[in-house]
Amino acid sequence: MALTVKSTDDQAVLDAEHELWATTFSYIKSMALKSALDLRLADAIHHHGGAAEPLYALTPVSRLLVGSWNLVSIITMLLSPNFVTTFLGIGAWFEHALPDPCLFTQAHGEALWTMADHDATFDALINDGMVSDSSFIMDIAMRECGEVFQGIGSLMDVGGGLGAAAQAISRAFPSLECTVMDLDHVVDKAPAGTDVKYVVGDMFESVPPADAVFLKVCTSYSFVGPANFFLFVFVHACALRTPFINML
Ligand SMILES: C[S@@+](CC[C@H](N)C(=O)[O-])C[C@H]1O[C@@H](n2cnc3c(N)ncnc32)[C@H](O)[C@@H]1O
Repeated sequence: MALTVKSTDDQAVLDAEHELWATTFSYIKSMALKSALDLRLADAIHHHGGAAEPLYALTPVSRLLVGSWNLVSIITMLLSPNFVTTFLGIGAWFEHALPDPCLFTQAHGEALWTMADHDATFDALINDGMVSDSSFIMDIAMRECGEVFQGIGSLMDVGGGLGAAAQAISRAFPSLECTVMDLDHVVDKAPAGTDVKYVVGDMFESVPPADAVFLKVCTSYSFVGPANFFLFVFVHACALRTPFINML
């Protein structure tokens, strides 16, 4: 039986309590999503969609988990233990006077990219995640605002990972010379047979010259320091008087 409250003050306290519980347990929604991915539920529903009377159907959100441009890898990455446990330290992190070390380093004792350098499974999780995010979003980005690349002869995709974003740009503008710059352990795994070139480099040391510098990170990276990425690459682009195309 629902509690009927006469006093508006009591109602306000109950509403606040309801919000507190909802906020406290909101992580369960993420964990339910993780279980659905682990159990490949969206795939199962997708493959039974042709049944005469399907009991379940995919929603617009769960449709993002099936098909060729699905977001399974990036969501799997974001809900993996190394990422999830990182956020248990937000309180301690706020007590620092400085933003460094970033949340990830505080939790794991090393930066995300350092861990990726020596942990092949984690590296694959990151690289595959970024490919899925870029493959999905660049298709839309090229349709919606591809004109920003018009008239550029060469583009440097800084921290471009395995190059899914650069490949999408290169497909749309075949005469545009696209280069991906990333750390050596990532460039080592770069796909062969694309029109994109790959170079090893550290963006905090230098960025090779190009007509334009491109930077795309997944927004979820705010806790590993995209502000740093953004600032360094932006300052560099300004110093070179190079157009800076940013997709944060
Ligand atoms: C968030 S991922 C983005 C990948 C790609 N831009 C995308 O959106 O698909 C960041 C990338 O930056 C690379 N990276 C991290 N530190 C770097 C550095 N100092 N110099 C160059 N690349 C770096 C990582 O290896 C990773 O591939």
